[in-house]
Amino acid sequence: MASRAMMRWKPKATIFALVCLALVTKHGILDYVGVARPACHQAIQSPTALHAEAAEDILRTVAVAGATGKTGRLVVAELLRSGYASEVLAIVRNVTKAAEVLDADDSRIRVVSCNLEDKAAAQDVWADAEAVIWCLEGQTGLGTLAAAFPAAQQQDEGQPRMVMCSSAAVTRPTWSRTKQERFPGCADIPIVRLNPNDILGNKRLAENVLRSAGMPYTIVRPTGLNDKWPPGRPLLSQGDFAVGRISRADLASVLVALLQEPVATGKTFEVTSVAGYPKPRNGYGQVLAGFDSDTSSTKSSVWRRLAQKFWPASRVEGSDAATYSVLQQLLPGEEQDSAGLAMGQTYEQYDQKEEGRLGPRGGERVPTTSTN
Ligand SMILES: NC(=O)c1ccc[n+]([C@@H]2O[C@H](COP(=O)([O-])OP(=O)(O)OC[C@H]3O[C@@H](n4cnc5c(N)ncnc54)[C@H](OP(=O)(O)O)[C@@H]3O)[C@@H](O)[C@H]2O)c1
Repeated sequence: MASRAMMRWKPKATIFALVCLALVTKHGILDYVGVARPACHQAIQSPTALHAEAAEDILRTVAVAGATGKTGRLVVAELLRSGYASEVLAIVRNVTKAAEVLDADDSRIRVVSCNLEDKAAAQDVWADAEAVIWCLEGQTGLGTLAAAFPAAQQQDEGQPRMVMCSSAAVTRPTWSRTKQERFPGCADIPIVRLNPNDILGNKRLAENVLRSAGMPYTIVRPTGLNDKWPPGRPLLSQGDFAVGRISRADLASVLVALLQEPVATGKTFEVTSVAGYPKPRNGYGQVLAGFDSDTSSTKSSVWRRLAQKFWPASRVEGSDAATYSVLQQLLPGEEQDSAGLAMGQTYEQYDQKEEGRLGPRGGERVPTTSTN
């Protein structure tokens, strides 16, 4: 009798048990007793954090190379604020500076003094972190770190495991003269015209180092970094036509959000910001899905070079012209003449016919390192 009663199916009890099992499996039992839930998950959630929650895999430990830089420190903060990471490995060359610019009281930040050119150190990073956001100036250690990525995961088709902050304009010095003349608002801006220490060439090389390393990556090329520029909507585009401004905080939010975007893997794109617009609630997946991967854009650029020999440039570059036209309309200021700027001159100074901090156009006192 007793055993027959026990075997009788109880639908309500079964459904209750299944719901409990699903919840415990999804979040972990400790979440429900409030023991292991990291503080970052208790913060008020932003749209990007909600997007992260919806993703299947939430990254736990993320390394930031260049964590003491002006962008790097904001990336550290954003990783924790958004809930994407429960721990950040802040990879730095100067621990004294790290103590000054990173939140020393936050136990979720682990400062690691590390020479990434050292293969063993690079391997240690991958042993401890699921992903890296690269915010370093220069490429020292980028190749070693990429090469140290565990071989077993090289063909991983999922999320990017290295998000690299590069720079808009890196390809423009290599454009043909015809293309440069066709798109002066991109090709004749101060950083391309002056290109101190071939900073753009070095970044282009660094991008290629990462592309050929065989790991899941994404490369983000921001336009001019300006922390006075109001918060806005990061606008992604391809073709290296973006000119304008983005604050480092907005850039940090994009770099972090990309860790959750599998469709960003293997792609390179620019980012600028439209001030005043809110950030997209559902992330960047939809726009990224329409972007070319680096392998397909290499093939199409071979086709383009061939086509240019037989068709007029206007027909071959139709989509480039359209992208250029839209992005030029988003330039800051009223004159909207990026080619007229001197290095170090703001769009507002240009509108007011005021000289920039480095002198007049054509006579600038060029700094040795600057991408402004
Ligand atoms: N400024 C712009 O308008 C602009 C536009 C587009 C792209 N970008 C690029 O965006 C990235 C972030 O810019 P940011 O203004 O945040 O840079 P930043 O404040 O100058 O930070 C650069 C980071 O690189 C580290 N670093 C520099 N040289 C190094 C070396 N030889 N070895 C190891 N570490 C080195 C610095 O370490 P320390 O903290 O120890 O000095 C710092 O962590 C840079 O790659 C920049 O080129 C800038």
